[in-house]
Amino acid sequence: LFHDTSYTRYFTPPSSILPDAYIWPEQDRPSSIPDDNEASSRTEIPIIDMADDEQTLIRNLANACESWGVFYIVNHGVPAELLNNVREKALELFSLPPSTKMRALRRDGSFEGFGKAPISKFFDSLMWSEGFTMMGYPTSSISDTTSKLCPDGNNKFRGVFEEFDCAARRVAGRLLRVIMAGLGVRHGDEEQHDVEKESVTRSALQLNYYAPCDQAHMTMGLPAHTDSTCLTLLHQGLVPGLEVLHPSRCSWTPVPPLSAAPSSLVVHVGDMLQVISNGKYKSIVHRAIVNKTKARLSIVSLCFPSSNATIAPSEAAVGTSKGGRSLYKPFKWEEFMQAKSKYFMAALDNFRC
Ligand code: SIN
Ligand code: FE2
Repeated sequence: LFHDTSYTRYFTPPSSILPDAYIWPEQDRPSSIPDDNEASSRTEIPIIDMADDEQTLIRNLANACESWGVFYIVNHGVPAELLNNVREKALELFSLPPSTKMRALRRDGSFEGFGKAPISKFFDSLMWSEGFTMMGYPTSSISDTTSKLCPDGNNKFRGVFEEFDCAARRVAGRLLRVIMAGLGVRHGDEEQHDVEKESVTRSALQLNYYAPCDQAHMTMGLPAHTDSTCLTLLHQGLVPGLEVLHPSRCSWTPVPPLSAAPSSLVVHVGDMLQVISNGKYKSIVHRAIVNKTKARLSIVSLCFPSSNATIAPSEAAVGTSKGGRSLYKPFKWEEFMQAKSKYFMAALDNFRC
């Protein structure tokens, strides 16, 4: 089965020796491999305490979004126990026998189930990772997609994944509300209502598994990309691997797991928030590298607008921009996704004024 190309198209090969197809061009390889054991107590990335008072939170989130476009959140209200349960179930899912996993392959045109990230088509080399995607709120496929993995009819994945999807989306909603306030949109404004209502109305739950690899320095778990979301929330456990490209630097910065806050979540500013903020906040470029001896698992909640929502810079953000001009024309989420699948990281250029 392992020699079946259809299997290796979707899953990491079982050997830790790198097949040629997984060797990345030198310029796209990681500059260094993190020490597998290193959760860190130090980071340059902002840490946001969601238990701070509203004014502090508004200020800190505005700074974090503007200076980095990525930040950690602590005291976010998603219980540690839930995070642990999701991780446990996700590990169980990735360690199912190949024949079971093959039942839940992502079919052409669909995002659900096992499959390489859609961005893989922009790269010649294969990514050293496995992904499992479920659509969350409001038309959840969590039950259907996971039930394919439970032929005995006892779906042990569904409950905990649904609970996490719901909890993460709630946090994303609160974050967006406070971020909008930081952009100058007042609570109760009609605009506030619309942007909030439309920007994180849908969610997807993405699980990423990065097997250990002897030649980790020659491959890539997930290559550089931005998320098409409004906001992305991510739990990475204790194994490092996530890196971001600061908007004005040309070197990669690690986003290490925090030893003092193992339940912290990492939040990415996505492409939609870049537009809503009229370019004040940049969609963060990030990638995941793999380790030599430890498997890494990331649990990702992607929060994005409904298909027919109109995305445009918020009036308040335009008002406070230099020159008071809108940088982007209004567009529908679906139009953006079409552009993204064609132009990848240059997609937003198509919607500039
Ligand atoms: C992602 O970009 O979706 C995942 C990054 C990670 O695994 O940390
Ligand atoms: Fe991502």
